[in-house]
Amino acid sequence: MHKRPVSRLLPLDLDAAQRKQLAQEAFEVIERLLGRRDHAPIFVPTPPQCIEAMQVAPPEGGTELPELLDRLQAAAECGWSKEHAGDLGFIPNGGLYSGVIAAMLAAGLHSFTGSAFEQPGLVALEESVLRWLGRVFGMPPATEGLLLSGGSLANQTAIVCARDRGDFAPDRSVAYLSERAHHSLPKAMHLCGIPAACIRSIRATAPGRIDTQSLLEEVERDRALGRHPWLIVGVAGSTDTGSVDDLSELAAIASRCGAWFHVDAAYGGMFALTGRGAARLQGIGAADSVAVNAHKGLFLPYGVAAVLVRHPGALARAHSGQGAYMRDVTRVPDLPNYFELGPELTRPFRGLLLWLPLHLHGVAGFRQALDRSLDLAQQAAARLRAIPGIEVLHEPELSIVAFCAAQGDATTQRILAVINGSGELRVSSTTLHGRTAIRLAFLHPRTGEPQIDAVEAAIRRALEAR
Ligand SMILES: Cc1ncc(COP(=O)(O)O)c(C=O)c1O
Repeated sequence: MHKRPVSRLLPLDLDAAQRKQLAQEAFEVIERLLGRRDHAPIFVPTPPQCIEAMQVAPPEGGTELPELLDRLQAAAECGWSKEHAGDLGFIPNGGLYSGVIAAMLAAGLHSFTGSAFEQPGLVALEESVLRWLGRVFGMPPATEGLLLSGGSLANQTAIVCARDRGDFAPDRSVAYLSERAHHSLPKAMHLCGIPAACIRSIRATAPGRIDTQSLLEEVERDRALGRHPWLIVGVAGSTDTGSVDDLSELAAIASRCGAWFHVDAAYGGMFALTGRGAARLQGIGAADSVAVNAHKGLFLPYGVAAVLVRHPGALARAHSGQGAYMRDVTRVPDLPNYFELGPELTRPFRGLLLWLPLHLHGVAGFRQALDRSLDLAQQAAARLRAIPGIEVLHEPELSIVAFCAAQGDATTQRILAVINGSGELRVSSTTLHGRTAIRLAFLHPRTGEPQIDAVEAAIRRALEAR
């Protein structure tokens, strides 16, 4: 039930009662959405009138808040739900409620964390989570970092650092990455002005790891032609299958040929908190740079990832700039001005999105949830293997399982449609070894055995429907 509506001509500067009412009504929308997540279907088609309602331009006079919130809620209830425990598609996002509160606080504190002198305590907070991430990966204490909007920008920021290290030459420097690397990497190279001719796509072995023998051959071929291996990218958790490249081997190859070693750990990096994940990610600590998404492996709301760079000064070398209007910017000992380390000047206070949930729940809570995702992937692989007519295409290295129908792509496609039409599950597909494959990505903290039961039931229904 709606309470007293906020007045139609609401002033921009709200008084305490108005603020409280606005917050309460907004939080009620979130509660209503959370309240339906367990029984509403995972997918609800968006009616055309809902899209039309959302395209309306802002009016000259105000609109009552309940009316706006109703419109918003109607749109948010449609489409694919990210709150649903059955979300196994692409890379799921947990959207922890403590992260929602942290995001609200980050906006409500209205702090500028682009430079340390504005709010040194809050920049110290952000530094504390970056240093913690560096330790999780076993990087040296002097490692510098920056929180960005996502893995794409984190990858790009690392590549800019590699380019500006001083030895990049467009006519002879070469970058190497797996054919299974995320598309944000070639995109980042394009945005960094790296010509396509300088990028080698290296074949992946059956589980989806970069074939280090092919890499070595390409490196030797390029060297023989007088080219300089400039960048080697390792993938710590491929988007297709969760495969982890042999990071120790890649680090050794990069070190031998003087290349910068970047690890895209956007999806898989946080598994380093678990024993099994740390073993798979061995070698990540030797990276020159790492990109990791907190909005994946730490289940936080969208918009927070980190880039970590081993070499002090590398981020600043690539990103600092000057303007006459900056004469009043001062330095705080031992705290960075983030605007000098990355592409953004004004930026949200992202540190709080990590700091609050990590301190509130403790690291163990995240470690357990990640361990559980690893368990679920293994259980799902075992259950799927037992279904006649289903081929599990790899032993899960992290929390993704890919499988297909032995009968071929048409049957796989039918299974995909039955799973996604079940109303309780969402999966996505890819192409592996020329075959259509369905991926089950376990990374939602609410996902459990009931979802594996539902996947198995849907597969059996699809196979029986032949
Ligand atoms: C391995 C990998 N790298 C990079 C990205 C890009 O991250 P973002 O979507 O946060 O930009 C993704 C996204 O799924 C990914 O899986």
